[in-house]
Amino acid sequence: MFIKESSILLLICCVFIAYCEASDRHDVRKFPEGFLFGAATAAYQIEGGFNEDGKSESIWDRLSHQVPSVVQDGSTGDIADDSYHLYKRDVEMMRELGLDFYRFSLSWTRILPTSFPDKINAAGVEYYNNLIDEMLKYNIFPLVTLYHWDLPQKLMDMGGWTNPHIVDWYADYARVAFETFGNKVKHWITINEPKEICYLGYATGLLAPRIKGSGYADYMCSKNVLMAHAKAYHIYDEEFRPKQNGSIFISISAEWNEPESEIHAEAADDKAQFDWGQYAHPIFSKTGGYPEEMTQIISRKSAEQGFYRSRLPEFSPEEVEYVKGTSDFFCLNHYSTQVVYRNESAVGYYDTPSHDDDVGVRIYQKEEWRIGKSQVTMYVPWGFYKLLKTIREKYNNPPIFITENGFATHGGLEDNDRVTYYRGYLNSVLDAIEDGSDIRGYTTWSLMDNFEWVRGYTEKFGLYEVDYESPARTRTPRKSAFVYKEIIRSRSLDHHYEPNTTIMTIDERH
Ligand SMILES: *[C@@H]1O[C@H](CO)[C@@H](O)[C@H](O)[C@H]1NC(C)=O
Ligand SMILES: *[C@@H]1O[C@H](CO)[C@@H](O)[C@H](O)[C@H]1NC(C)=O
Ligand SMILES: *[C@@H]1O[C@H](CO)[C@@H](O)[C@H](O)[C@H]1NC(C)=O
Repeated sequence: MFIKESSILLLICCVFIAYCEASDRHDVRKFPEGFLFGAATAAYQIEGGFNEDGKSESIWDRLSHQVPSVVQDGSTGDIADDSYHLYKRDVEMMRELGLDFYRFSLSWTRILPTSFPDKINAAGVEYYNNLIDEMLKYNIFPLVTLYHWDLPQKLMDMGGWTNPHIVDWYADYARVAFETFGNKVKHWITINEPKEICYLGYATGLLAPRIKGSGYADYMCSKNVLMAHAKAYHIYDEEFRPKQNGSIFISISAEWNEPESEIHAEAADDKAQFDWGQYAHPIFSKTGGYPEEMTQIISRKSAEQGFYRSRLPEFSPEEVEYVKGTSDFFCLNHYSTQVVYRNESAVGYYDTPSHDDDVGVRIYQKEEWRIGKSQVTMYVPWGFYKLLKTIREKYNNPPIFITENGFATHGGLEDNDRVTYYRGYLNSVLDAIEDGSDIRGYTTWSLMDNFEWVRGYTEKFGLYEVDYESPARTRTPRKSAFVYKEIIRSRSLDHHYEPNTTIMTIDERH
């Protein structure tokens, strides 16, 4: 009897202790001192004013006008959120949320209508100066992306990212930006998501410029993007950093690739190497250059397929050194997770030659990960944790800045799924920090609903809902905006916090 009772008591105690530990750990968790919070957008997705005040045509203007069927709802970014005129409201929203910083991108064709520095468009420069000044007035610092996919159409007509001359074209544009805004902008992202630019733009052709050149065009793009990034980095580092004292980095998108079982570990690793190691390894590894596995696979397959040289244009030893170490932070965009496996079903499944055939794996996502109606985002917070751990271990614990993370809904202000997502993913960030990851900041995608590329306005990522029926493009805070505001105000994550969503006010710090 005695033994039985005491063991029950012990059991109760254990459960109680476990419960307390779990709630200590998960109910209210503090972010480290100095951790920064922001929200992101990109020029083509929000600005509108597509042909105003001298702006010229980008590849997204061309695509949405000429092939509207490519965009799910046939829409364009001609007006989008009209931020070209409504930037003051955007800054007001940043003040409401209490953001430390705002990440936005510059439109190359708004600043340089000829694509080149021979003509700098004063009206375009004025727009960005107005936006930046308005933010700085309230101590919200700008984190500026130089290139977020809206390539000048004129440069596309000359081969776009497959033409090695783009390294100079891009570097000239970057120099203009540093010269023009560098006295106020201290944090620069050179390129947003090289994988999406090259794989979706030049391999599958899903995004502008819709080139279907899988297995060679995307690899040409990859090298040129990395060289362009590195050139901008060196220009900043050598000529501007000494007087402007800022930082500069690239934003790499990475999903977590989960092996279906242990025997698929190599398949999952190959998938990761092709997806984001391709861009991270040349910059963050000790050796530099493309990942060894990827280089070998492409070289072997190219030979088997009758090519005279590898379809992957490799870096010369000088180029390896030129690209290595060219990012002050590991900037990470992350959304979701996929399961990877490799068996006979992958053989002959993809066209040859192609990027997917080179990787040689199959992938899928699990229905049980779906928490909302969106087709594009799922809820797998442990995948984020594993990814952050992998980056820490692979690249010697680099400082990480999360430059995008977010969840899509199909609209509505009661966005409980988005709240669940943000809490789960921020919890993973805290877990990784606890394990020793050096994570400095977090950026939600997105401040507000916007033109979500080929999804048009169907998938909504905003903390603020945008009414596309109203000429004023009225912006209304969703529940997630109130929750994020409290996370920023308290610098902590409380899973049980229920906001009063009646009225949104300016955060006291702003
Ligand atoms: C440069 O920036 C760093 C970090 O932002 C700061 O600690 C340092 O004081 C700055 N130096 C100068 C010369 O402004
Ligand atoms: C390959 O693996 C998948 C996923 O486990 C399985 O459904 C399929 O039957 C396998 N195919 C072959 C040919 O082994
Ligand atoms: C929410 O805030 C409004 C406005 O301040 C107030 O009138 C209302 O009572 C609050 N609701 C709750 C449930 O606290």
